[in-house]
Amino acid sequence: MQELDALIEALTEKRYYVSDTLISNELAHALKDEAQTRFHIGDFQEAKVGRQLTKRLDERIRGDLTSWIEGDMANHSLALQQYLKFLDNLKDQLNPIFYLGIRSYEGHFACYDEGAFYRKHVDQHRGRGLRRLSVILYLSDMSNDDGGEVVIYHHQKQDVEVTRIRPKLGRLLIFLSEDLPHEVLPAYKARLSLTGWLRA
Ligand code: OGA
Ligand code: MN
Repeated sequence: MQELDALIEALTEKRYYVSDTLISNELAHALKDEAQTRFHIGDFQEAKVGRQLTKRLDERIRGDLTSWIEGDMANHSLALQQYLKFLDNLKDQLNPIFYLGIRSYEGHFACYDEGAFYRKHVDQHRGRGLRRLSVILYLSDMSNDDGGEVVIYHHQKQDVEVTRIRPKLGRLLIFLSEDLPHEVLPAYKARLSLTGWLRA
Protein backbone atom coordinates (compact mmCIF):
# COMPACT_ATOMS: atom_id res chain seq x y z
CA MET A 1 0.00 0.00 0.00
CA GLN A 2 1.19 3.47 -0.85
CA GLU A 3 1.85 5.76 2.11
CA LEU A 4 2.06 2.83 4.51
CA ASP A 5 5.18 4.17 6.21
CA ALA A 6 3.65 7.60 6.68
CA LEU A 7 0.48 6.04 8.04
CA ILE A 8 2.35 3.87 10.54
CA GLU A 9 4.50 6.76 11.70
CA ALA A 10 1.49 9.06 12.15
CA LEU A 11 -0.56 6.48 14.04
CA THR A 12 2.40 5.78 16.30
CA GLU A 13 3.20 9.39 17.01
CA LYS A 14 -0.12 11.23 16.79
CA ARG A 15 -2.75 8.49 16.80
CA TYR A 16 -4.34 9.86 13.65
CA TYR A 17 -3.57 10.17 9.96
CA VAL A 18 -5.14 12.22 7.17
CA SER A 19 -4.76 11.33 3.51
CA ASP A 20 -6.06 12.98 0.35
CA THR A 21 -4.54 10.34 -1.92
CA LEU A 22 -5.33 6.87 -0.58
CA ILE A 23 -8.84 6.93 -2.06
CA SER A 24 -9.14 7.76 -5.76
CA ASN A 25 -11.33 10.61 -6.99
CA GLU A 26 -13.37 8.15 -8.98
CA LEU A 27 -14.15 5.98 -5.96
CA ALA A 28 -14.94 9.00 -3.80
CA HIS A 29 -17.38 10.32 -6.41
CA ALA A 30 -19.08 6.94 -6.74
CA LEU A 31 -19.50 6.66 -2.97
CA LYS A 32 -20.84 10.19 -2.79
CA ASP A 33 -23.43 9.29 -5.45
CA GLU A 34 -24.37 6.25 -3.41
CA ALA A 35 -24.78 8.34 -0.25
CA GLN A 36 -27.04 10.76 -2.14
CA THR A 37 -29.10 7.94 -3.58
CA ARG A 38 -29.54 6.39 -0.14
CA PHE A 39 -30.60 9.81 1.13
CA HIS A 40 -33.18 10.30 -1.61
CA ILE A 41 -34.76 6.90 -1.07
CA GLY A 42 -35.09 7.61 2.66
CA ASP A 43 -32.46 5.16 3.86
CA PHE A 44 -30.98 7.51 6.49
CA GLN A 45 -32.19 7.44 10.10
CA GLU A 46 -31.47 9.44 13.22
CA ALA A 47 -28.20 8.28 14.74
CA LYS A 48 -28.16 6.71 18.19
CA VAL A 49 -25.72 7.21 21.04
CA GLY A 50 -24.74 4.14 23.03
CA ARG A 51 -27.57 1.68 23.35
CA GLN A 52 -30.09 2.64 25.98
CA LEU A 53 -30.21 6.42 25.79
CA THR A 54 -33.39 8.14 24.78
CA LYS A 55 -33.71 10.00 21.52
CA ARG A 56 -34.10 13.35 23.31
CA LEU A 57 -30.70 12.90 24.89
CA ASP A 58 -29.22 11.76 21.60
CA GLU A 59 -30.18 15.01 19.94
CA ARG A 60 -28.12 17.04 22.39
CA ILE A 61 -25.08 14.84 21.69
CA ARG A 62 -25.32 14.20 17.99
CA GLY A 63 -27.64 15.26 15.20
CA ASP A 64 -26.47 13.31 12.21
CA LEU A 65 -28.44 10.79 10.18
CA THR A 66 -26.96 7.40 9.34
CA SER A 67 -27.46 4.66 6.77
CA TRP A 68 -25.71 1.46 7.89
CA ILE A 69 -23.78 -0.86 5.61
CA GLU A 70 -25.55 -4.16 5.93
CA GLY A 71 -25.78 -7.46 4.10
CA ASP A 72 -23.45 -9.56 1.99
CA MET A 73 -20.51 -8.22 0.07
CA ALA A 74 -22.04 -9.51 -3.18
CA ASN A 75 -25.08 -7.27 -2.71
CA HIS A 76 -23.07 -4.08 -2.32
CA SER A 77 -22.37 -1.67 -5.15
CA LEU A 78 -19.03 -2.06 -6.90
CA ALA A 79 -17.83 1.15 -5.29
CA LEU A 80 -18.66 -0.07 -1.80
CA GLN A 81 -17.03 -3.43 -2.55
CA GLN A 82 -13.90 -1.62 -3.65
CA TYR A 83 -13.85 0.49 -0.50
CA LEU A 84 -14.40 -2.53 1.76
CA LYS A 85 -11.54 -4.31 0.00
CA PHE A 86 -9.34 -1.31 0.67
CA LEU A 87 -10.24 -1.53 4.39
CA ASP A 88 -9.56 -5.26 4.40
CA ASN A 89 -6.14 -4.61 2.96
CA LEU A 90 -5.56 -1.89 5.56
CA LYS A 91 -6.41 -4.41 8.26
CA ASP A 92 -3.90 -6.92 6.85
CA GLN A 93 -1.18 -4.28 6.77
CA LEU A 94 -1.76 -2.87 10.24
CA ASN A 95 -2.67 -5.94 12.30
CA PRO A 96 0.88 -7.34 12.45
CA ILE A 97 2.40 -3.96 13.23
CA PHE A 98 0.09 -2.70 15.94
CA TYR A 99 -1.23 -6.06 17.23
CA LEU A 100 -4.75 -4.78 16.81
CA GLY A 101 -6.39 -8.14 16.17
CA ILE A 102 -8.88 -6.57 13.75
CA ARG A 103 -11.30 -9.09 12.30
CA SER A 104 -14.37 -7.20 11.18
CA TYR A 105 -15.81 -3.93 9.99
CA GLU A 106 -18.94 -1.99 10.84
CA GLY A 107 -19.87 1.25 9.19
CA HIS A 108 -22.45 3.66 7.93
CA PHE A 109 -22.92 6.60 5.64
CA ALA A 110 -23.55 9.74 7.66
CA CYS A 111 -25.30 12.96 6.80
CA TYR A 112 -24.98 16.07 8.93
CA ASP A 113 -27.69 18.39 7.74
CA GLU A 114 -27.65 22.11 8.45
CA GLY A 115 -26.97 22.71 12.16
CA ALA A 116 -26.04 19.09 12.98
CA PHE A 117 -23.02 18.38 15.19
CA TYR A 118 -21.54 15.60 17.29
CA ARG A 119 -20.25 16.58 20.72
CA LYS A 120 -16.86 15.51 22.03
CA HIS A 121 -16.70 11.73 22.46
CA VAL A 122 -14.56 8.65 21.97
CA ASP A 123 -15.65 5.94 19.55
CA GLN A 124 -16.12 3.24 22.10
CA HIS A 125 -19.12 1.95 23.98
CA ARG A 126 -18.12 1.77 27.64
CA GLY A 127 -16.67 -1.56 28.68
CA ARG A 128 -16.61 -2.94 25.17
CA GLY A 129 -13.19 -2.28 23.76
CA LEU A 130 -13.74 -3.71 20.34
CA ARG A 131 -13.34 -0.76 18.03
CA ARG A 132 -9.67 -0.47 17.13
CA LEU A 133 -9.50 1.98 14.22
CA SER A 134 -11.96 4.65 13.17
CA VAL A 135 -11.90 5.34 9.45
CA ILE A 136 -13.85 8.24 7.99
CA LEU A 137 -14.07 8.99 4.30
CA TYR A 138 -15.41 12.48 3.65
CA LEU A 139 -17.79 12.85 0.75
CA SER A 140 -18.48 16.60 0.81
CA ASP A 141 -16.29 19.62 0.23
CA MET A 142 -16.78 22.02 3.12
CA SER A 143 -15.36 25.51 2.59
CA ASN A 144 -14.18 27.89 5.30
CA ASP A 145 -17.68 29.11 6.15
CA ASP A 146 -19.45 25.78 5.94
CA GLY A 147 -18.42 24.49 9.40
CA GLY A 148 -18.45 20.75 9.96
CA GLU A 149 -14.77 20.43 10.85
CA VAL A 150 -13.77 17.53 13.04
CA VAL A 151 -11.75 18.63 16.07
CA ILE A 152 -9.27 16.15 17.52
CA TYR A 153 -8.20 16.51 21.14
CA HIS A 154 -5.14 15.22 22.95
CA HIS A 155 -5.57 11.63 24.14
CA GLN A 156 -4.50 12.49 27.69
CA LYS A 157 -5.03 16.23 28.01
CA GLN A 158 -8.55 16.01 26.74
CA ASP A 159 -9.16 19.78 26.71
CA VAL A 160 -6.21 20.44 24.44
CA GLU A 161 -7.15 20.75 20.80
CA VAL A 162 -4.64 18.97 18.58
CA THR A 163 -6.01 19.72 15.13
CA ARG A 164 -9.07 20.59 13.06
CA ILE A 165 -9.73 18.71 9.87
CA ARG A 166 -11.98 20.09 7.18
CA PRO A 167 -14.04 17.61 5.19
CA LYS A 168 -13.18 17.36 1.51
CA LEU A 169 -14.42 14.86 -1.05
CA GLY A 170 -12.06 11.86 -0.91
CA ARG A 171 -10.22 12.89 2.26
CA LEU A 172 -9.63 9.96 4.59
CA LEU A 173 -9.17 10.25 8.36
CA ILE A 174 -7.89 7.24 10.29
CA PHE A 175 -7.42 7.23 14.07
CA LEU A 176 -7.11 4.90 17.03
CA SER A 177 -10.66 4.49 18.34
CA GLU A 178 -9.74 3.66 21.89
CA ASP A 179 -8.90 6.98 23.48
CA LEU A 180 -8.83 9.87 21.03
CA PRO A 181 -11.57 12.39 21.88
CA HIS A 182 -13.01 14.25 18.92
CA GLU A 183 -16.07 16.24 17.94
CA VAL A 184 -17.85 17.44 14.83
CA LEU A 185 -18.54 21.18 14.81
CA PRO A 186 -21.96 22.30 13.52
CA ALA A 187 -22.23 21.97 9.76
CA TYR A 188 -23.92 24.83 7.90
CA LYS A 189 -24.63 22.79 4.80
CA ALA A 190 -25.15 19.07 4.21
CA ARG A 191 -22.04 17.09 5.08
CA LEU A 192 -21.78 13.52 3.81
CA SER A 193 -19.29 10.89 4.91
CA LEU A 194 -18.72 7.17 5.16
CA THR A 195 -17.74 6.33 8.72
CA GLY A 196 -16.68 3.00 10.08
CA TRP A 197 -14.68 1.00 12.55
CA LEU A 198 -12.27 -1.86 12.20
CA ARG A 199 -13.06 -4.14 15.14
CA ALA A 200 -11.26 -6.84 17.03
C1 OGA B 1 -18.41 9.50 14.49
C2 OGA B 1 -17.55 10.69 14.27
C3 OGA B 1 -16.51 12.28 12.82
C4 OGA B 1 -16.66 12.91 11.49
O1 OGA B 1 -19.27 9.22 13.65
O2 OGA B 1 -18.22 8.82 15.52
O3 OGA B 1 -16.90 11.08 15.19
O4 OGA B 1 -15.79 13.74 11.14
N1 OGA B 1 -17.48 11.28 13.07
O5 OGA B 1 -17.62 12.62 10.80
MN1 MN C 1 -16.56 9.54 16.59
